[in-house]
Amino acid sequence: MRVTVLGGSGFIGPRVMRRLVEHGHDVYCMDINPSAAALDPLRDQVEITHGDVTLMDDVVEALSASKPDRVLNLAYALGASEADPHPQVRLNILGMDNCFEAARILAIRRVIYASSLAVYGPQRLHGDRAVTEDDLCLGRGIYAVSKIFNEHQAEWYNRAYDMAITGVRPANITGPDKQRGSMNHVQCQVLPARGEPVTFPHADAMTLPLHVEDIAEVFVRVTLAEQTAHAIYNSGGHATSLRDLAEIVHRYLPDAEINFEQETGGYEGSGLHRMDNSRLVEEFEVEYAPFEQRVLETINAVRSAAGQPPLG
Ligand SMILES: NC(=O)c1ccc[n+]([C@@H]2O[C@H](COP(=O)([O-])OP(=O)(O)OC[C@H]3O[C@@H](n4cnc5c(N)ncnc54)[C@H](O)[C@@H]3O)[C@@H](O)[C@H]2O)c1
Repeated sequence: MRVTVLGGSGFIGPRVMRRLVEHGHDVYCMDINPSAAALDPLRDQVEITHGDVTLMDDVVEALSASKPDRVLNLAYALGASEADPHPQVRLNILGMDNCFEAARILAIRRVIYASSLAVYGPQRLHGDRAVTEDDLCLGRGIYAVSKIFNEHQAEWYNRAYDMAITGVRPANITGPDKQRGSMNHVQCQVLPARGEPVTFPHADAMTLPLHVEDIAEVFVRVTLAEQTAHAIYNSGGHATSLRDLAEIVHRYLPDAEINFEQETGGYEGSGLHRMDNSRLVEEFEVEYAPFEQRVLETINAVRSAAGQPPLG
C-alpha cells in the first residue's frame, strides 16, 4: 500500500512511517520541515518533500506525485500561543481542509487525521468518569476548538462525498524527544533521566500519558484499515497523577529530584484523564505496553543519547 504522511517530520510522524516501512509499505512524506533530524534514519526508505499544507497547490502536488491509497495528516500547530491565532487557524483549519479537498479531487477516499483528547475539555466538566466518543466536546481554546472543527470537516466530507475519513483522539503522547504540547509527564521522566531536578506545582495533578510508539501503532492500524466502523476513536492512555509517575521514575532512578510545590491539590484542575478506548481496542485489537516499561524505555532513550548505559 502507498501512504502519504503530511506533517511527518515531528514527534509522532517518523515512528508511524518507520512502522509502515517495516510492514513493507511505500511511504511518502510532505512536511514544511523536511530536514528534521528525526527523518534521517528514514531518508533511504521514504520519499521526503518540502510542502506546506496551508497551500492547496502543495497538497495537490504531493498527492498527485505520490498517488497514495491513504493520506495521513499530522501537520498541526502544537503548543502555540493563544495570542497569535491567525497562523494556527490557517494551519489547523485550512490545512486540514486542503488535505480533505485535495484527496477528494484526486479520488483518494481514505484520509486519516489526528484529533485530540483536548476536544473534551477538562475532566471536571465530565464528572469523575471515563468519557466515550459520544460525550460532548467541551474544549475551549484554539487548539481544542480547531480539533472539534476538524471533526465536523471530516463528517461533512464523509457525508457529502462518500469519503472514508477517520480521526483518532490521542491522549497526552509521551516520549523522550517530545518538544511541544502537554509536557509535564515528559519532564517528569526526561529531566531526572538527564540528572536534572524538576518541580511541579501540584502532586495530585492528573495526566493521561500514552507512549509515542503506542500511538504510532494506532495510527498504522487505523491508516491501513480498508474502512472503519466509526469516524472517530479515543486512544485511551495510562491515567496517572504526577506523584504516581514520580514514584515509577524513582524505582529506576532512586536519586531523581522530583519536587512538588504542594504535596496535595491539583486534581480538580486536571485535564481529561479518564478516557474510554473500548471502541478502538475492540475494532483494532490494540494492546499497549505496560506503562512502567514505557517509562523505563523513555529514561533509557535519554541515557543512550547522553552515552550512558541502560538501566533495568
Ligand atoms: N503529541 C501529542 O501529545 C498529541 C496529542 C494529541 C494529538 N496530537 C496530534 O497529533 C498530530 C501530530 O502531533 P506531533 O506531536 O507529531 O506534532 P509535531 O508538532 O511534532 O509535528 C507536527 C508536524 O507538522 C509539521 N508542519 C507544521 N506546519 C506545517 C505546514 N504548514 N505544512 C506541512 N507541515 C507542517 C511540522 O513541521 C511537524 O513535523 C497533531 O495533529 C497533534 O495535534 C498530538
